[in-house]
Amino acid sequence: MAVVRVRQHVNPLSERYQIPIQMPVWEQVYAAPKQPLHIDIGCGKGIFVQQMAQLQPGWNFLGLEIRKPVVEQAQKRQQEAGLTNLHIMYCNVNLSFRALLESWGEANPLQQVSIQFPDPWFKKRHQKRRVLQPQLVDELAEFLPAGGRVVIQSDVEAVALDMAERLSECPQFSRTEHDWLPLSPFPALTERERVTLAQGLPVYRAVFLRR
Ligand SMILES: C[S@@+](CC[C@H](N)C(=O)[O-])C[C@H]1O[C@@H](n2cnc3c(N)ncnc32)[C@H](O)[C@@H]1O
Repeated sequence: MAVVRVRQHVNPLSERYQIPIQMPVWEQVYAAPKQPLHIDIGCGKGIFVQQMAQLQPGWNFLGLEIRKPVVEQAQKRQQEAGLTNLHIMYCNVNLSFRALLESWGEANPLQQVSIQFPDPWFKKRHQKRRVLQPQLVDELAEFLPAGGRVVIQSDVEAVALDMAERLSECPQFSRTEHDWLPLSPFPALTERERVTLAQGLPVYRAVFLRR
């Protein structure tokens, strides 16, 4: 069997990730396209969104991932599961989030977004590669309806703080709790979350509501 080498981290600012993507026809993607939509940004192998789609059939789930080989594996698994409320696609969120939401037109059903264990990019000069940039905060505020949720999680406190600060600075979002949440608001774990908890390490979580 051919061994596919998958990069651990990719730089979303590099030229090769600046190519616009073709948007799907959403009516052909989901069996019930009017259901509320949950987008998982940086979904990795898509295990979390797949479990969520199984547990919550009244929602549609969309996993967005920048590493193409990882997306292809996730799509294979998705096809095998045969779920009609789940879609996983290649997307550089820092390039295409607006176009993706605009492709829904007036029917935009977005209600919830999760950003879980994003790549930390520790070095100061690399921090502009972190996924939750000011532009993405503005796009989340623009496309989420009042009462819509953004859920953030990380095993790196500095990264969780950075995301929480960016969302707190946006007047359209309010944080539900001042302190980190002890438990995930979701009934499924991400892969990274599972590993972190198995090692007995802390997870830093917060929920923001669109005012
Ligand atoms: C550390 S992994 C966490 C995966 C999963 N959320 C979890 O908790 O197990 C972060 C993921 O975000 C993806 N990612 C990073 N930047 C991205 C971007 N600009 N657009 C889409 N996905 C991105 C990475 O390729 C990687 O799969």
